[in-house]
Amino acid sequence: MTRGAQQFVGAVTFEGVTGRRVHSEIFESGEALAHIRLARHAHGIVIAPATADFVARSAQGRAEDLLSAILLAARCPVLIVPAMNDRMWSHPQTVINTTHLREIGYDVMEPAVGPLAFDEGEGPGRMPEPDMIAAAVTRMLSKSTALNGKRVLVTAGSTREAIDPVRFISNHSTGKMGVAIARAARARGAAVTLVAGPMEVAPPAGVSTVHVTSTEDMARAVGESIASADVLVMAAAPADFRPSDVASEKIKKAHAPDSLALTATTDVLASTIAARPPRLVVVGFALETESLLQNAREKLASKKLDLIVANRAGVPGEGFGSDTNRVTIISANGDEALPLMSKDDVAEVLLDRIEALISGR
Ligand code: CTP
Repeated sequence: MTRGAQQFVGAVTFEGVTGRRVHSEIFESGEALAHIRLARHAHGIVIAPATADFVARSAQGRAEDLLSAILLAARCPVLIVPAMNDRMWSHPQTVINTTHLREIGYDVMEPAVGPLAFDEGEGPGRMPEPDMIAAAVTRMLSKSTALNGKRVLVTAGSTREAIDPVRFISNHSTGKMGVAIARAARARGAAVTLVAGPMEVAPPAGVSTVHVTSTEDMARAVGESIASADVLVMAAAPADFRPSDVASEKIKKAHAPDSLALTATTDVLASTIAARPPRLVVVGFALETESLLQNAREKLASKKLDLIVANRAGVPGEGFGSDTNRVTIISANGDEALPLMSKDDVAEVLLDRIEALISGR
């Protein structure tokens, strides 16, 4: 327990409830190297809740108290479960700190969304529910998940179709969902290739990223990696139309055309059907403003998918740009409606379903 933790629950109470000895001091009576022994002993370390201060100190590699010293001495997997005020969580310094912790290989859970302490309203910052943490610990400790060593191809972001050298047609996709899936698959031991159109978020560390601009570029990049892939997740929102003629010079305002002739772009998912290796697990997304489940089921069939993740456009907290999403995962066997959750949690549930499909093949 850190000093902060003991402000909330006394060490004696904790010992009484757990039946385990509580360690809190770096120089415990008679043992100068407690941190080394505890770090060596652990198969995994879970810090829940991790305060903004602890996240900052561990990002700096400090070692002034027992817990941070254990972290530095440890070589086992580490799971950090942040819980803090939503403004502290979204502060650029905390964003830098958590990004850094992920870069050095720690698994940092996204906080849950919901009511926070002190009537602060709702926002991301709550400690995730214990069953989500337990599931993350299980994944962290299971050395061989079904995705371990598998090749996972993920697409993310929008694409751009040029009108002239300065203008384009695109959509509101930010890449958050695809990046969450790529990061989570990497954490499960997969070799991940991310085909990324323009995104508002950075690609995660440890994945091989191929940057593309147009839908044709995306189709080509996916086509190049599909033969060796075990899983394809099309989380990108490729532009469906392109201008039939691209002007080679900037169209001057004075000569604005009355209309723009459009041509359909390649459907990336459909274009892979002939080239898919036999055991490939294929997952698509469906973004709809109406008849969500019916349209999604039609796409599941027409694009020959194993799973389709149906989500709604135009609802606050769901879909484009949001950190959260409310989705239904549809397969030939039925629908699974999930509650509103962070995109990281959606990614974990989706990967659980993908692993079940891999194990069944
Ligand atoms: N998709 C694709 N190539 C495209 C457009 C979409 O591979 N040119 C993929 C998306 O990545 C997603 C799925 O197809 O996984 C469904 O995308 P969505 O935009 O919902 O459907 P569309 O195929 O564009 O159909 P519609 O415009 O009729 O909704």
